[in-house]
Amino acid sequence: MSRKLAAIKGVHGYLPEYVLSNKELEQMVETSDEWIQSRTGIKERRILKEPGKATSDLGYHMVKGLLEKTNTSPDEIGMLVCATVTGDYPFPDTANIICDKVGINNAFGFDINAACSGFLFALSVGAKFIETDTYKKVIVVGVDMMSSIINYEDRTTCVIFGDGGGAVLLEATDDGTGLQDALLRGNGDGRHYLHMKSGGSLHPSSVETVTNKEHFVYQEGRTVFKNAVRGMSGAVETVLEQNNLTLDDIDWLVPHQANIRIIKSVADSLKFPMEKVMVNIEKYGNTTAGTLPLCLWDYEKKLKKGDKIILTAFGGGFTWGATYLVWNYDS
Ligand code: UT7
Repeated sequence: MSRKLAAIKGVHGYLPEYVLSNKELEQMVETSDEWIQSRTGIKERRILKEPGKATSDLGYHMVKGLLEKTNTSPDEIGMLVCATVTGDYPFPDTANIICDKVGINNAFGFDINAACSGFLFALSVGAKFIETDTYKKVIVVGVDMMSSIINYEDRTTCVIFGDGGGAVLLEATDDGTGLQDALLRGNGDGRHYLHMKSGGSLHPSSVETVTNKEHFVYQEGRTVFKNAVRGMSGAVETVLEQNNLTLDDIDWLVPHQANIRIIKSVADSLKFPMEKVMVNIEKYGNTTAGTLPLCLWDYEKKLKKGDKIILTAFGGGFTWGATYLVWNYDS
């Protein structure tokens, strides 16, 4: 019998209805469908437009759908971890609000802020509580409502990001499937190149910070691009080495969806065929903590029990990493 591992037992994604097309963006900023598609691979992204709705409402749909799909009662959940940079409030955590909205009442929850690597970080944390037998069932959510922190007058960021995400259910297994290993890293020096300047304790919100448009995503794209390719490729290589694997052993690579050119560069540098790389950036853009569970959800039907999968991400912080797992079920 193998050691006890935490396996993904189900995944459910959710996207808001409104489709923001490249054509519509052409009316908002000086850009073109041609530029956006050729430089990023994005055709459209979803935006939560309903007044009074927030990240927790997206999370609600993900978790409610996940519970229904896996025949799980809210009372069975011991813990819910939510990866997000766009929580409903600076505090309390959005995990608690999602639990309240879904009716998960016998659990505790908290948020993890690791930007685009948030889902990877949250998955590892959730898995530890399963491996140690602390809880039988843990939910990990990766969700962002990026439209709430994007300046739709800034063409360098507004064409990239979208709203959405997904949730997974973790349970213990002893058949060798589940999360095997992860390499997670951070380098705070990267904060200069990708951040939201104000609204925290360094620059609290004021009339001046709002006037200066400091409550939006700031990104130095080229620097982030280079570091993203290096960070994800290196993390995948290390995880392969640590587990005595070669890329031929891997059935699927699941990269963070920030830019199709980043994804292709990572695959190229690893010499990994694009047919085995999950890609859905054309439909949703970059949903930050939401991209990895959205990929698993979109490709779920193609996954088979025993498939060897590597997830990798890079984001604000900088944060990055790679996680190796063996898929637990046939769809
Ligand atoms: O998920 C978190 C991590 N984030 C990422 O991984 C994102 C990493 N970075 C990127 O994906 C890319 O750097 C961007 C998509 C953000 C930008 O693409 P790029 O090929 O690196 O463009 P660039 O910043 O080098 O800009 C090239 C030109 C500039 O014009 P000039 O200075 O050469 O005249 C930009 O002003 O493209 C211009 N530009 C645009 N033109 C039309 C920038 N954004 C746009 C736009 N439409 N939307």
